[in-house]
Amino acid sequence: MPIFYGKAFLMDYLKSIKTANSTIGFVPTMGALHQGHLALIKKSLSGNVNTVVSIFVNPTQFNNLEDLAKYPRTLDEDIEKLNTLDPKIIIYAPSVDDIYEGNVSSQHFDFDGLENQMEGKFRPGHFDGVGTVVKRLFEIIAPTTAYFGEKDFQQLQIVKKMVAMQNLPVLIIGCPIHRENNDLAMSSRNERLSEQERTEAAIIYKTLTSAKAKFEKQSSKKITVWVKSFIEKNPHFKVEYFTIADETTLLSCSRKNKNKKYRAFIAVLVNNIRLIDTISLN
Ligand code: PAJ
Repeated sequence: MPIFYGKAFLMDYLKSIKTANSTIGFVPTMGALHQGHLALIKKSLSGNVNTVVSIFVNPTQFNNLEDLAKYPRTLDEDIEKLNTLDPKIIIYAPSVDDIYEGNVSSQHFDFDGLENQMEGKFRPGHFDGVGTVVKRLFEIIAPTTAYFGEKDFQQLQIVKKMVAMQNLPVLIIGCPIHRENNDLAMSSRNERLSEQERTEAAIIYKTLTSAKAKFEKQSSKKITVWVKSFIEKNPHFKVEYFTIADETTLLSCSRKNKNKKYRAFIAVLVNNIRLIDTISLN
């Protein structure tokens, strides 16, 4: 299958296969591929002539050096999984230098305030890093459509905002969250959990569904207090944030408005491994 480690060869290749009606679907990833990633890739394969998958652990979006160092890197297995799925998938697995050309830093973005909520509050600079790498990848690959998971709902909204604000010629499609059998949201970071932690982490989605059931009748404040105490009954679990927010502005909801869509967002530290999840509430 076509695998590229440098952008120059990839760009030449994409130029060589381009025809009048060809489309490029693009799925950016940081590797350690799981069924959640593969679902995005299948969607791209079914809707496009060509599909590019990037595998790049982007250093500028990590605010925690330990998290970056411990991020799973499984390139050979990832290539194998993609080859099994469809050997026509075009893989781009660049080095840090190929993307950053000696200057490993982020551009600063204004995402209309979306970057200041939730993940942005707890991971300073994270969305500047995401914006920088996604924009660069879009420039290199020039996709017609790009696919992002709702698991990282804030990231999905931010990428949509960047595309709208900068008039980038790419359609962004959001895809539903893929879950383990116990409903834990699939994540590359789950690989770092012990068997017991993985089993216990089922409480995260269970709590979100209970929060959804409470949403009609109880205030956000009351639900938030309950969520924290319910999850933190387990001494290894720490709720970093739980927020009920407007799906579009991501601003936390103080008074409910029937015409708006709301979501609950949560980040939990399980023995220092950071897991996030989200659920639509209405
Ligand atoms: P990564 O965490 O590898 O995720 C790549 C894509 O897969 C993202 O769009 C993410 O939302 C989606 N994804 C991850 N887990 C999922 C799940 N359980 N169900 C559905 N989709 C899921 O997100 C990133 O990488 C990076 O920030 C990136 C966009 C590649 C920029 O570096």
